[in-house]
Amino acid sequence: MTAQPLLDVNDLTVEFATRRGIVKAVQHVNISVAKGETLGVVGESGSGKSVTSYAVMRILDRAGKIAEGSVMFSGIDVKAATENQMRDLRGREISMIFQNPRAALNPIRKVGDQIEDVLRQHVQAAASDRGEKAIEALEQVKIARPRERYHAYPFELSGGMCQRVVIALALACNPQLLIADEPTTGLDVTTQKAVMELIVELTKRRGMSTILITHDLGLAAAYCDRVVVMEKGRVVETALSADIFAKPQHAYTRKLMRATPRLGVSLRDLLPERRVRGTFRQSRSLREPLTPALSPQAGRGRSLPSLSSKNL
Ligand SMILES: Nc1ncnc2c1ncn2[C@@H]1O[C@H](COP(=O)(O)OP(=O)(O)OP(=O)(O)O)[C@@H](O)[C@H]1O
Ligand SMILES: [Mg+2]
Repeated sequence: MTAQPLLDVNDLTVEFATRRGIVKAVQHVNISVAKGETLGVVGESGSGKSVTSYAVMRILDRAGKIAEGSVMFSGIDVKAATENQMRDLRGREISMIFQNPRAALNPIRKVGDQIEDVLRQHVQAAASDRGEKAIEALEQVKIARPRERYHAYPFELSGGMCQRVVIALALACNPQLLIADEPTTGLDVTTQKAVMELIVELTKRRGMSTILITHDLGLAAAYCDRVVVMEKGRVVETALSADIFAKPQHAYTRKLMRATPRLGVSLRDLLPERRVRGTFRQSRSLREPLTPALSPQAGRGRSLPSLSSKNL
């Protein structure tokens, strides 16, 4: 960890102007992320997880504003930055994976073209190299036969594969920080695990920092170095993942623990293998074939060959 965090959210308050007056969605939030760190942000619906991340990327709704506090990213004051600086920052330095992968993809553009769009905007790559770079990006997220999938439309892919494409889009520019907002919602447990491990493996390998937003304390504790617990727009607890289940400090954290369905035996099933001597070891699920998980759409388009865990 460096002395200076990559991201430093200090005393952040975000307000929305609504017909019923000012709504304080996030209040006096302090969050820091070190270089290479994976931070979980946990809390129930409406606790302010997404609004906090939108403030970091300065993509708040028009009615919203940073009313108090500051967001510093790699020495840049996000509140004071020009729109041009923010455009450079978004996508190139900070990437976000939004909930619902299908909605994040353009349904009428081939996935390869969508990755090339990102490369065109943010990376100094010659036009002739972009196709190969897009295929490489699909390969890195372990999509089998990436050359064929390059030409696929989102409706031809399963939910898990779409999420892999979204991850490829988010990582195409090698950002310093990835914000993953509920990246596994709507996926079955097996695919959820494969997608989480992919995110952690790729970001750790590249030395990137990650914020994982989830309502699932078990998932955050399994995959993150530290966990921040939010309740009603405020941070109520920040702890090392190793300590949060053993020594929860706040009543709300204990409530979230009770609400974690996979506590106990099945939570252990989700735990990734830990890094051994500084290298992240791939866990079983990425090495061994698993039951295929096809979305209802998959059968409707071109017929797809049988899937292994790589295709999930
Ligand atoms: N555009 C808006 N106008 C008014 N209030 C808003 C707006 N966007 C968010 N809020 C409020 O901000 C609060 C935090 O919302 P946020 O979306 O950050 O919650 P969340 O923790 O991400 O929840 P979820 O788990 O459901 O995604 C909520 O009370 C919400 O109603
Ligand atoms: Mg949210």
